[in-house]
Amino acid sequence: MSSSGATGVAAAPLLDLHPDPADMRQLVVEGLSRSPKQLPAWFLYDAEGSRLFDLICQQPEYTLTATETALLEREAPAIAAALGPGTLVEFGAGSARKVAPLLQALAQPAYVALDISAEHLEAACTRLQGQFPDVPILGVCCDYSQLDALPEHPLLSGTAHLGFFPGSSLGNFEPAAARTLLAQFRRLLGPGGKLLIGIDQPKAVERLEAAYNDEAGVSAAFALNLLRRLNRDLAGHFDLEAFAYRAIWKPEQSQIEMALVSQRDQQVELAGQVWAFEAGEALITETSAKYSPAAFLELAGSAGWKGAERWSDPADDLSLHLLVQAD
Ligand code: AVJ
Repeated sequence: MSSSGATGVAAAPLLDLHPDPADMRQLVVEGLSRSPKQLPAWFLYDAEGSRLFDLICQQPEYTLTATETALLEREAPAIAAALGPGTLVEFGAGSARKVAPLLQALAQPAYVALDISAEHLEAACTRLQGQFPDVPILGVCCDYSQLDALPEHPLLSGTAHLGFFPGSSLGNFEPAAARTLLAQFRRLLGPGGKLLIGIDQPKAVERLEAAYNDEAGVSAAFALNLLRRLNRDLAGHFDLEAFAYRAIWKPEQSQIEMALVSQRDQQVELAGQVWAFEAGEALITETSAKYSPAAFLELAGSAGWKGAERWSDPADDLSLHLLVQAD
């Protein structure tokens, strides 16, 4: 472990398990061969994407982050009591700004942050380590949806880990993939493991669409950054001017669908192939499913989890569910 000199605070260690370029190329070929074209949402999170996502979280239309953060702060003592002992493992930690009230409230906190965005994760863990010098912290750069096992590390030596999956990130996965992911978390967290998960709920369509179409244009910039990333990392030749961002609520699927729409017929070189886009054709950048508490608990139940407690904000916009293993 290295020391950050002047402050004397040890930097949190980081394991790098990021997918390699060949795996990324394969995923791009698969995703662009689909109809409609769609890539895994984690491609949005290069360093610039992570920075833009943090900005989205501060937009007035995107109330999810502020609402969930306030709920965590308010309920941290009750949540910590219900969680009990164990290492907190956050899936997709981003800037790791939501975990602080839990680290404060837990009796013997230990924290492992998983995220796809290495630089961003390292900065987040280092900041958190400064804030909590006595809490053991580990960062793991990985695609958490493809993890067969948690890495071997003293912080993860026991079983019965405490999963933390806030922000309604589950919404990025289609229902079948969401069920698979929840079942996989159950295996990763081990027998007796628990999962604290934040789920955004359906609400007025105007509010939902505004949250993903902010006035300042940050949501659009976030989506368009995907093309810049593909140009840089996978030898792409996207013309960013030739795509327009849109986000619409799909009531049948109970999800927001975010896409970049081709503004003309065009051919784009990427990952060693040429891809045709028709005028009006969408490249789906991500989907964001919303679940009522009942719909979510049914999904979780099908993955071997059962609801132990639910905390919600005063307006009942979103929930923090504590899940325990069904058997
Ligand atoms: C990180 C997946 C929860 O779906 O609300 C927000 C991502 N993208 N605005 C969401 C997102 C554009 C966010 N999640």
